[in-house]
Amino acid sequence: MKKWSAARAPAGRIAYVNGRYLPHGQAGVHIEDRALQLGDGIYEVTNVVNFRLIDEEAHLDRMERSLREIGMAMPMGRAALKLVMREMVARNRIADGLLYQQVTRGAVRRDHVPPQDGPRPTLIMTVRGHDMVALAARMQTGIAVTSQPDIRWGRCDIKTVQLLPNLLAKQAARASGAYEAWLIDRDGYVTEGSSTSAWIVDRDGTVVTRDLSNAILPGVTRRIMLEALAEAQIKVVERKFTLAEALNAREAFLSSATGAAVPIVVIDGKPVGTGTPGPVTQRIYDLYAVRAGIKSA
Ligand code: PDD
Repeated sequence: MKKWSAARAPAGRIAYVNGRYLPHGQAGVHIEDRALQLGDGIYEVTNVVNFRLIDEEAHLDRMERSLREIGMAMPMGRAALKLVMREMVARNRIADGLLYQQVTRGAVRRDHVPPQDGPRPTLIMTVRGHDMVALAARMQTGIAVTSQPDIRWGRCDIKTVQLLPNLLAKQAARASGAYEAWLIDRDGYVTEGSSTSAWIVDRDGTVVTRDLSNAILPGVTRRIMLEALAEAQIKVVERKFTLAEALNAREAFLSSATGAAVPIVVIDGKPVGTGTPGPVTQRIYDLYAVRAGIKSA
């Protein structure tokens, strides 16, 4: 297998911008695009496994919701959108990777007021291959997280392209040798990771993840995982948990389209449970993978 660093996972050669498939290096948007000027846009990230888009419908549901919450409609009908998504995977010949979609309020003279009869929205899609070596290593050895104050806004349920607080937290985590930052709210509770949902398995073996609200993104992987856990009759509680509880947990893990049930073995430099990936996390990964059609039962 070829070895890629995370930053060097191969980018697809073809990008999609507003109805056109273009060489990646030549694709672009207008300098007055409202996402560039004002962060006025939303995005989705969908996992691609063996040329299949995983949890596709749920990602499109969330895209529609994010757009609705900022007063926008889907840029095209769902069937047409799915065709473009498939076309992007096929044209780029990416078997295992990630499909990125950004929808912005379009290019128009800069003004804080969103235009009423808005310009045509901008729709961008790119695909890139997974760094399979790094992905496997994270699953096998687990990862470390560090806590960072959650300095984000009051609508973290919207998957906006405005990610500055998230990436500053991630940067601080990486500077301290951790893979992810767990964001802590003013009351000392974990909200989520900077780009992942947060989970623990408590002392009684109950799986715990924060309940949905404006404080977290409704993770698609989280949603499908909860369905799989319910079906397997595994005890789950959706509630807030503190950093102290996480440190005292048996297991901890994170989930996102970029990695479902990735074991967390260290929090703020201290081992979680045995300090190695745990059996519940592994089981949850397996249940998710079957439900998402990544592997057979
Ligand atoms: N991040 N929470 C946040 C803040 C996220 O940005 C993400 C996804 C998640 C997990 O959601 P899902 O299971 O739907 O991927 C939770 C994507 C992958 C990203 O920004 O790259």
